[in-house]
Amino acid sequence: MKIAILPGDGIGPEIIAQAQQVLEVLRQEGLAIETEQAPLGGAAYDAFGQPYPEFTQKLCREADAVLLGAVGGPAYDQLERPLRPERGLLAIRKDLNLFANLRPAILYPELANASTLKPEVVSGLDIMIVRELTGDIYFGQPRGMGVNAQGEREAYNTMRYSESEVRRIAHVAFGIALKRNKKLCSVDKANVLETTEFWKEIMNDVAKEYLQVELSHMYVDNAAMQLVRYPKQFDVMVTGNIFGDILSDQASMLTGSIGMLPSASLDQNNKGLYEPSHGSAPDIAGKDLANPLATILSTAMMLRYSFGLEAEALRVEKAVKTVLAQGYRTGDIYEAGCQKVSCSAMGAAVVAAL
Ligand code: IPM
Ligand code: MG
Repeated sequence: MKIAILPGDGIGPEIIAQAQQVLEVLRQEGLAIETEQAPLGGAAYDAFGQPYPEFTQKLCREADAVLLGAVGGPAYDQLERPLRPERGLLAIRKDLNLFANLRPAILYPELANASTLKPEVVSGLDIMIVRELTGDIYFGQPRGMGVNAQGEREAYNTMRYSESEVRRIAHVAFGIALKRNKKLCSVDKANVLETTEFWKEIMNDVAKEYLQVELSHMYVDNAAMQLVRYPKQFDVMVTGNIFGDILSDQASMLTGSIGMLPSASLDQNNKGLYEPSHGSAPDIAGKDLANPLATILSTAMMLRYSFGLEAEALRVEKAVKTVLAQGYRTGDIYEAGCQKVSCSAMGAAVVAAL
């Protein structure tokens, strides 16, 4: 199991260090894990002048899975667009064809009070958002900034999906729904946008191959409302790149903190990139304050999806539940009566629980 480790920027190196300790426990117990590091994002710009340099690309192409911290930071905001850290993230997703982004939003009972919603609205919450990750307005051509025929400045992006792109993400989403509660909600804006009217049509067509799954459709504006009104109506949600970006951040806050949420981005063969759903948090970078649990849970997703090690994945997830039950909290999930710990202490607690 060759794992490319990309710590990235901001809190990335701190949270990745904790996930690596978890991997080290499993390695010492006999799992054949090999890791190698490369920079991505701002760190890669500093080292190689590019956010996704060849060195990193080669390592990631050869690896069986990639574990990423986070990218971005104020130091890089003034760079030309193609050199910015976010472009490195988009480039690696596209390069490795990681079209299926799985973002679970699970509420741990111990954190029910950390949510801004009433406990009865979120208790027991367990949603899987399946976000298409390599198409849509993020990558559609034409795109750009320029001057229109009237001589006025303008900017444009293109929302675009091909049939094969929608079909393959539909199959992933239906497959996941089959293994869960067999309810899939496809989110679109079919009342306005042709791209998503098309999306809906393909979803309905693929549904014929998954008769046990109950498919429903929802407009994205309504979905945003329903997520805060009655989120437990959802099991699996599938949507395009831009709607998924927004709804997954929203869903994350139902669970109390985005610092708890892992993600997996998979290709057709379950090679994957695993990263916390949150960003690089420059404001707390280097202070040993970040919550490493999303990255540790991403490592569990790696064991499950790329390596088929379900028992090991469950064991890591159980260790996370244990440390929460023991009362350890980083600042983002802290509440009175619990023990506030640093990023590294939280990592050590997970290792101890393992
Ligand atoms: C995410 C992030 C990225 C995205 C950014 C950093 C490019 O918000 O992974 O959700 O928009 O996809
Ligand atoms: Mg996002």
